[in-house]
Amino acid sequence: MFTLFPLLLISYSGMTNHEIKINFQSYDTIHELSKPDLDLCREAVKAMENSHSPYSKFRVGAALRLQSGKIVYGSNQENVAYPSGLCAERVALFHYGAYYPGDPIEAMAVTAQSDEFEILQPTASCGACLQVLAEYEKKQNKPIEIILFCNSGPAWVMNSVESFLPFLFFEKGLGG
Ligand code: THU
Repeated sequence: MFTLFPLLLISYSGMTNHEIKINFQSYDTIHELSKPDLDLCREAVKAMENSHSPYSKFRVGAALRLQSGKIVYGSNQENVAYPSGLCAERVALFHYGAYYPGDPIEAMAVTAQSDEFEILQPTASCGACLQVLAEYEKKQNKPIEIILFCNSGPAWVMNSVESFLPFLFFEKGLGG
């Protein structure tokens, strides 16, 4: 009787609990990835070299692999007026949008390094970068693989931005 009582309350209240499961693969190191993905991770490390991050001392590199095989690079670009800076992912994605809009994005690899502490697990992209990624994923109507990795830790692979940000903002009524 005592255990049934709360259950009845839930069904009478009109409220339903939902659970969302996300799916991703983890690898012990980037060396377990497929050759094209491992190569893309190496490009993300290269991209990090051009990070301009004198304020956070947190360098981020992003590399996009396009269907044609072209690689597009991005790194975080900070500014003394802090909010004027931009994340590595969006630098790469907007460069992509401006230069190669007809060449679908297959995958994006992202990595980070700090001058001040060791990073032991992959750094997740921020919500704004995922929202921008989602825009291009919707536009090309093909999922974009996301590979997050760090120097001395595992690599995480998501098959689409939707598994990363299930409640991303999207409104058909706004067109596009
Ligand atoms: N940053 C990125 O480049 N990507 C993200 O997804 C999150 C954060 C950068 C912004 C800033 O230059 C530094 O990391 C510290 O927040």
